[in-house]
Amino acid sequence: MSIRIRIALGVALQTAVVVLVVAAVQFLALRSFLAVAEYERLEMLIPRLEQELAARPQSGAAPPLEITTLPRNVDVRVLQGGQVVAVTENFPPIPADLPPGYAPRAGHDVLIATVTLRGGAATAQLASDVLGVVNPLRAYLRALAVTVPTAAALVALLSFLLAGRLLRPVARLQEAAARLGQQGDLRSPLPGAGRNDELGRLAGTLQTSFAQLADVREREEEFTRAAAHDLRSPLAALKMRLQGSLAGPRSEAELREDMAEALADVERMRRLTEHLLLLARGVQAVQLLPVDLARVAGEAVDRAREAAPDVRLDFETRGDATVIGDEALLTHLVENLIGNGLRYGQGADMRVSVGGEADHVRLTVQDAGPGVPAAALPHLAEPFYQVNTARGGEGNGLGLAIVQRVAQTHGATLRFENGEPGGLRVAVDFPRTGTDQPEWPARDFLLPHNRNHSQ
Ligand SMILES: Nc1ncnc2c1ncn2[C@@H]1O[C@H](COP(=O)(O)OP(=O)(O)OP(=O)(O)O)[C@@H](O)[C@H]1O
Ligand SMILES: [Mg+2]
Repeated sequence: MSIRIRIALGVALQTAVVVLVVAAVQFLALRSFLAVAEYERLEMLIPRLEQELAARPQSGAAPPLEITTLPRNVDVRVLQGGQVVAVTENFPPIPADLPPGYAPRAGHDVLIATVTLRGGAATAQLASDVLGVVNPLRAYLRALAVTVPTAAALVALLSFLLAGRLLRPVARLQEAAARLGQQGDLRSPLPGAGRNDELGRLAGTLQTSFAQLADVREREEEFTRAAAHDLRSPLAALKMRLQGSLAGPRSEAELREDMAEALADVERMRRLTEHLLLLARGVQAVQLLPVDLARVAGEAVDRAREAAPDVRLDFETRGDATVIGDEALLTHLVENLIGNGLRYGQGADMRVSVGGEADHVRLTVQDAGPGVPAAALPHLAEPFYQVNTARGGEGNGLGLAIVQRVAQTHGATLRFENGEPGGLRVAVDFPRTGTDQPEWPARDFLLPHNRNHSQ
């Protein structure tokens, strides 16, 4: 059922209910008013009754008098000394000894009053057949039976027309949204956006959301292009190397060299794929549990020492280094920082330290290598940023962007500094409490950066 019909029926139903409640109150008021009026009328008949009875002789043994002066729907019985003195023909069957007052009895409104009859007291019982009350009430109900459905139908019709008018912008909005889906231009304006009412605000919100979706889609497309670009060069290099190896006779030493180079290409592609997979992990996949950062860093240091036995890699830890976080992401963070030190530090000494303070846990990864120019420091965490693209042939420029994102996910802050006397020093401060709301990974940070930057 359409909203329009539902509004029309709903309003009609409400109107009918309200009218019926009002009518019921009026009905009760009318009934009590009519009953009071009826008793007053009966009371006013008493003097006439006394007059008529006084005018006619009555002996003890005679049959009861007939009374003629009263209105047709009123019957009377007069009792004196337990004897019926007078009675009308259709007097209802009610007891003779009722106390004075009003009461409805045997389908009649009955008034019991004391009257004076031939110098003595007598009891007059006046009964009216309630038609005087019932008839107007019936007429009122008949009128209601016509007016309530008519009013409800009229209100339904008017609401239907009004709802149609009010809902027209919704239909236009729906058409526009459907067109938008077909044509795929998420930035085209929606009708009604900018108007200051509920529908205008809805259209505005939709328009903003669609534009944000368009942004995300463009970024993702750009990111995919960039990722494909990055995969293409090592793939092309690998292909050429393999073709070269197969082209002519090669000594075993040359073949080993070719294979080592091919392995480096494969390694670069593996890292890129690993980054992409990590970025594809939804925020749901982030587990926030207590993690001993010192252990995570220690294990990463052990692996690095194995991989690069020639580099001197110091590791120190101090205090309780428990943080709230995701162990896989934290491992990735530490490995990336250490990996960069090994890759760009030119074999210089390295130092990794984890220190638990009162309100935070600090991880620092420092190398004594060449470091980066001061101007490049603010850009290191930008996706695809590489200080020296010529030398950076091995990497993708994504590692530190991911480190940054992991830090943000943990509510941690990331700082790059030039060490003394040289080298790069990266410090990450994790809060003791962790974060309430991890944010990972809204790919919006993956806008490809100026990829050709070089010093
Ligand atoms: N310890 C370091 N010493 C000198 N330069 C560094 C160091 N760490 C990072 N850099 C510079 O910062 C750039 C960005 O680092 P990042 O880790 O983001 O990317 P990458 O190492 O080039 O590639 P990926 O990590 O994606 O394989 C590097 O290309 C390098 O120029
Ligand atoms: Mg790196």
